[in-house]
Amino acid sequence: MKLPRAIASVNGKKSPLEDATIPILDRGFLFGDAVYEVIRVYQGRLWRGGEHFQRLRNSLQAARTSDIDMDGLANQVLDTIRVGAFTEAIAYIQITRGTAPRKHAFPQDTPPNVVYFVQEFADPYVEQRARGAAVLTQPDLRWQRCDIKSTNLLANVLAMQAAVEAGCIEAILYRPDGTLTEGTHTSFFGVRDGVLLTTPTSPAISPGITRQLVLQLSERTRIPVCEHSLTRDDLPRVSELFLTGTTTEVLPIVRVDDLRIGDGTPGPITRRLQQAYRDDIREFLAH
Ligand SMILES: Cc1ncc(COP(=O)(O)O)c(C=O)c1O
Repeated sequence: MKLPRAIASVNGKKSPLEDATIPILDRGFLFGDAVYEVIRVYQGRLWRGGEHFQRLRNSLQAARTSDIDMDGLANQVLDTIRVGAFTEAIAYIQITRGTAPRKHAFPQDTPPNVVYFVQEFADPYVEQRARGAAVLTQPDLRWQRCDIKSTNLLANVLAMQAAVEAGCIEAILYRPDGTLTEGTHTSFFGVRDGVLLTTPTSPAISPGITRQLVLQLSERTRIPVCEHSLTRDDLPRVSELFLTGTTTEVLPIVRVDDLRIGDGTPGPITRRLQQAYRDDIREFLAH
């Protein structure tokens, strides 16, 4: 498969992405002992860059990985965007605990491996954002620190594959008690009795940066909002549902499993927030 154009950096060494390599003894490769971020680039600018680098710092701290020069890393990523003349792109950043003999405990005196790539991004969701999409519910089989953006994503991968095989855009995960948490790579919101609801932040979910912005935009546009979890049993009483995420943006859900949401088209609150989100990006790009 031909990759979109991309430039990678492995510990500062730049190359086309397809030529970049990492040693087999890298702990990210062997143990998933690594954290990551994905940042959207609009018109050559990093969207919500400060928030993403802060979350990366939080993940590193929670994983007890040594801190790195985050401002230096941000400048390197910006430089790659500029030198590569990227406009619509994503920046993927991954920091692992380094390369060392395979032993579970932390290696001594081992510097982290700092890897990133900037890759052209052709937005795949334009049509689904306009018409809405279907999702599948799947059991949440992940660990208890989903607030750390770890590269251990097997449970997310399995749930997402089930969604794809069911013709769905995403899987929404649920706990054994039926509580819905989030998507495999998105946060989600629902509207019940005119109130916007989303899972409260806790170790059960990733603290989505788009989620946080949508909460702010709801307040700005005077949409009543409550950080409160929905359950699978609540779904028949939900009038609107949507996903949020860095590349997903605000994407309406019109079907969950066999259940139609609302009248099967994107609802008015979702539409208002999609518009507010677009306006916020436009405002950012104007300055
Ligand atoms: C599990 C999970 N939840 C939510 C999100 C959305 O987060 P953000 O809005 O920061 O992209 C992601 C993004 O990758 C994710 O992996």
